[in-house]
Formats: sequence, structure tokens, C-alpha cells
Amino acid sequence: MNVRIEKFTSALGHRYEVVRELGSGGTATVFLANDTRYKRRVAVKVFRPEVAEALGHERFVREIALVATLSHPHIIPLLDSGEVEGMMFYVMPAIDGETLRERMTRVGKFPIDDALQIARDVAVALDYAHGQDVVHRDIKPENILLTAGTAVVLDFGIAKMLNASSGGNSLTRAGVAVGTVMYMSPEQASAGPVDGRTDIYALGCVLFEMLAGRPPFIGTSTRAVVVSHFTDPVPSLHHLRADVAASIEAAVNKALAKNPDERFATAREFTDELAKARRAASREHMWRALGGTSPPPKSGEWHGKREFAAIAAHVAATEAANAAAAERAAANQQEQAPPADGRTWRGVPMVAIVGVATIVVGVVAWLLLR
Ligand SMILES: Nc1ncnc2c1ncn2[C@@H]1O[C@H](COP(=O)(O)OP(=O)(O)OP(=O)(O)O)[C@@H](O)[C@H]1O
Ligand SMILES: [Mg+2]
Repeated sequence: MNVRIEKFTSALGHRYEVVRELGSGGTATVFLANDTRYKRRVAVKVFRPEVAEALGHERFVREIALVATLSHPHIIPLLDSGEVEGMMFYVMPAIDGETLRERMTRVGKFPIDDALQIARDVAVALDYAHGQDVVHRDIKPENILLTAGTAVVLDFGIAKMLNASSGGNSLTRAGVAVGTVMYMSPEQASAGPVDGRTDIYALGCVLFEMLAGRPPFIGTSTRAVVVSHFTDPVPSLHHLRADVAASIEAAVNKALAKNPDERFATAREFTDELAKARRAASREHMWRALGGTSPPPKSGEWHGKREFAAIAAHVAATEAANAAAAERAAANQQEQAPPADGRTWRGVPMVAIVGVATIVVGVVAWLLLR
């Protein structure tokens, strides 16, 4: 802990007792602390002094106040904020879990259902925030915490604040890591106007990485990654992972359209499309597992066991009908086959008939002639 942080933690002391460091990023350090007033564990995020200097106290208070209005099960709530020893901080609940980045490092490619569930949690959080005119602008695995089977989004509004402190350019902000541009939409990288669709793009990159085990656009430098976002087609998810259904790949590709007008208009549309794709993929999987060979039936409004029973019955009926039709066709073909082709008569091979007839004629002849 450097001297400045030590001064900060002792200045905080009467209200928040710092226990240990939880982690740090490009612009801040996060500490686990005891909230002495409410006797609970909290996380205190402390920004580097440069941020306070560039941003100014009033702007910080304004931006933080906007974030404080957000209340959603998949968004970390803001509990408190302030400035101590020239350093700005805000307080949130301490989450017992791991970041999506840590999970990615641990498991590599995610089970498809887990990846879609995490993407859904983030998408509903985004949909809610966009409805309140708040764009995240820094959706990435480091800003998604996984706890008790759900995903919680961190750092809403922070990127906007930090961009403001660096003159509005996301790429030149102090301490930016290459990791950040991995999820940055072309319009955001070029410092153009952004709206909720920039978060949809970033979420598309995150989902791609959960499924493929690598982000869609990679490079050896920040610049190379940005250029790749602008110019390279999205690599085929299905090529990188054969069990990703075409419908899921299509939804991810739409989220990753270079032109925001070609993406989903809302995060809700994105997650609805993913849910539809997931249902179609699991129906298809079930259909094949039950032995269905023809294309599976279209989705009804049923889900779960009823849909399973309906599909199982449909598969059985279709396959039985197919088998009966095949048998009838074979029988017809045999009946219509000209006996002159010499091979069968009502299904009995001609060679057997001729053989038996020859033996009968031979035995009768021997009996008569002996
Ligand atoms: N509420 C919280 N509860 C538990 N751990 C947290 C909480 N908030 C942040 N952390 C931990 O602190 C780490 C640092 O977070 P921070 O937001 O400062 O960095 P970052 O997201 O990696 O980078 P950036 O500076 O670009 O935001 C996180 O990766 C996470 O491990
Ligand atoms: Mg963060």
C-alpha cells in the first residue's frame, strides 16, 4: 500500500475500516472494508488522484448521483461516495464471488447454457439502464461479477466519467489496457457518439469469448485490435466450436454488426433472440437424440416438460409414419415388379422356387422310373 493510500484508509477509518485490497484496474483500487455504522462488509473503490484532478469534484458528484438512481438485481447498487485526502471514492456491497474474467481463466470455454444465462443477466441490466438513459460504455469480463448463480454488472457510468476526465477519448484515457479495446465498438473507438447499442456490441464480444474461449477481435497492440473491430468479419463461432447452433451464431453476429443500425435496437431484443435460439437449439438436440432425422417441428408456445412430451410424441409418430410408408413402398415395388425379371415371386426368391420344383420333379421321376 503506498503512502497516499495509507493516508486515505486512515482518513476513512472512522466509517469504513479497510480489511484488504480486492483488486485494482487502470484507474482505481478496490478495498474490502467494514462499514462500522451498518456492520456490513463493503467494497470501496478509490480512484487515483489524477482522476480527481482531471474530473473535478462537482462532475464526480453529478455522475455518481446518476449512477445512484439505478436499482436493478443485476446492477451493483451504490451505497455511498465521497472524497478523502484528494481521492474520490464510492462504496458498494462487497460481492462474494468471482469476476467473469476469473471464471474465463478457470474454465476456458463455458457450457453453452451458462454462457447464455450470464449474457441474459447482463442484457436485462443493460436494457434497464438504457431505459434510464445510462450507457455503460465499458462492458467487459472484469466488470461482471458472478455470485450465487447470477451475474452482476459493476462500474455503470464510470467509463463516461473517466472519458470526461481525459477529454472524451476512450483510447487515450490514462492507463487504458489492451483488454479494454477487446470489447469496444467501432463507434466508441473512433470517439463517435454512442448509445445503448455500443453496450450490445461489447456484450456480443463477451458472449463470443465465453463460447469460443477467445474474443472475436485480437491483435498484438491496441491499434491492431481497434483496426480489427473496424475491418475484420466476425470469425465463425461454429468453426471455433462445433456445438454452437447456427441460430446462436446468427444472434451474436447481429450484436457484432459494425454499423449500430444493423445491431439489435435494444438489449431486450438481443436477449429475446438468444432465448429463442436456445430453445430452437435444445429442441433440435432433443429431436436428434430421440432419433429424428427430418427437420424438427417449429416452436410452439410450450416449454419444458410439455414441449418435451409433445416433441417426443411428434418424433415417435413421424418416425413410425415414415417407417410404415417405407414398408408400403417396398411392398408396392415388389408387387409391381415384373416376374420376368426373374428374381422374386411375392417375395420368394425365384432361385428357391426353381430349386424346390426341380427336386420335386426329380423325386417324382425317380419314383416312377425306378
Ligand atoms: N463490489 C465488489 N465486490 C467484490 N470485488 C470487487 C467489487 N468491485 C470490484 N471488485 C474487484 O476489484 C477488481 C478491480 O476492479 P476495478 O473496477 O478497479 O478494475 P477493472 O474493472 O479491472 O479495471 P478498470 O479500471 O478498467 O475498471 C475487480 O476485478 C474485482 O475483482
Ligand atoms: Mg471495473
